[in-house]
Amino acid sequence: MRVLSVASECVPFVKTGGLADVVGALPRVMGVEGVEMRVLLPGYPRVMEAVGAGATVMEDDTLFGGPGRVIAARARGIDLLVLEAPHLYGREGTPYLGPDGRDWPDNPERFAALSWIAARIAAEGAGEWRPDLLHCHDWQAGLAPYYLRKRGGTAPTVFTVHNIAFHGAAPASRLQALRLDPADFVQDRGFEFWGRINALKAALVWCDRITTVSPTYARELTRPEFGAGLDGVVRARAGDLSGILNGIDTSDWNPATDRDIAARYRTPRGKARNRTALRAEFGLPKADGPLCAVVSRLTQQKGLDLLLEALPALLDRGGQLVLLGTGEAALEAAWREAAARHPGVAVHIGYDEPMAHRLMAGADALLVPSRFEPCGLTQLYALRYGTIPLVALTGGLADTVIPASPAALAAGASTGVQVHPLTAETLALGLMDLCALHADRATWTRMQENAMAQPVGWEASAAAYARLYREVLGPE
Ligand code: ADP
Ligand code: GLC
Repeated sequence: MRVLSVASECVPFVKTGGLADVVGALPRVMGVEGVEMRVLLPGYPRVMEAVGAGATVMEDDTLFGGPGRVIAARARGIDLLVLEAPHLYGREGTPYLGPDGRDWPDNPERFAALSWIAARIAAEGAGEWRPDLLHCHDWQAGLAPYYLRKRGGTAPTVFTVHNIAFHGAAPASRLQALRLDPADFVQDRGFEFWGRINALKAALVWCDRITTVSPTYARELTRPEFGAGLDGVVRARAGDLSGILNGIDTSDWNPATDRDIAARYRTPRGKARNRTALRAEFGLPKADGPLCAVVSRLTQQKGLDLLLEALPALLDRGGQLVLLGTGEAALEAAWREAAARHPGVAVHIGYDEPMAHRLMAGADALLVPSRFEPCGLTQLYALRYGTIPLVALTGGLADTVIPASPAALAAGASTGVQVHPLTAETLALGLMDLCALHADRATWTRMQENAMAQPVGWEASAAAYARLYREVLGPE
């Protein structure tokens, strides 16, 4: 079975969040399931560097304002199809933002081009290779199912929602520029949304199957509180919707072999030296309470403004916090200020993967108080490192952490603490629970052992994707 996966990010070439980890992991884990997957990526400068010379398998002289070509190459163990189009992707900055921190004004065209080429490859093949199925991720690949159907292509399409909050909206005046049929610019079974073009809605309407990255988020997507205005569209397709949990790369994230941490370990006791090293690295004094960590984008989604308010509940009980993150300027400033004010708080503003490993190994607990979280990967790293996650009861966080309820504690099954509903007050209560559990050494150790034993790899989910692919492809 040949599958073309289409996305705007892919580890190890380009990453702004968990989407890249998932897109980078799928080819390998699906290979085990007998699926031959190639990844279509925009040719950003860093991607072009990584692929070097490859074979041109498709050309397009009129690709949304300039020429483009598709290069087939294998790099870092992944079969890539790279869309080289310097007028669209040959720029420094993140995949989405210019150096001024604003969206590139032509983002709709940049990712329409990616989707256009995905549809062409699905319909015509790229060189010798022609996919049986198209798997698109998030709004950047959202127009691909639409373009494919419009050109009469029949390959089935699967669309995965990693975050419904990002729509890829564009003004109606761009209809022609984006090669969209004005007849489809309608609310009912079209891609119109509040007077604008909406690439995510196009995907939700035209794809054959919708998946998202956890079963709970799949249910949440059908509700107004989480649907970002598209819950009605999702409800209309409830029969085609499923939730498949993300896994993590258990060889990259393995405390027994991790070269980025101070001391490798197989049991919770092995964390002690990493904890000491982490305190030393961040200039934190020795303390009796739990050493907590946050590794996160600093955005509204992640609820870290609430954590700022709830912080005294942790610090008053001898707890400490190390935060590694980058994002919105106001949140960065607020966290820097918290570090200056509290001796028990240390903050590193920036993006640093080895440091993320040191936090997972050295911390006693990981805090993820997200307002919504489609899946979340950091709580999975934490489980694997025997670091107790404190999470909000939402999305993938609800599906992967077994809360320390009296019943779960009695059964010796719990792996973390869950907070619901999420407010600064309930978060403070959750932090108090965390401190109390931490003080009870036997219970805490048991939770750590449970956490480390929980399967967080891709095995079950890869099999679920393979079943889904077979189902949409139908009998051979
Ligand atoms: P999201 O995709 O919403 O940001 P996820 O939890 O799915 O959330 O994925 C976030 C990924 O980015 C994880 O791999 C996490 O370790 C990584 N990450 C986030 N912020 C940082 C940072 N400041 N430094 C290093 N890694 C980070
Ligand atoms: C999104 C979500 C995150 C998820 C990731 C990968 O960025 O915010 O929860 O883990 O996609 O699916």
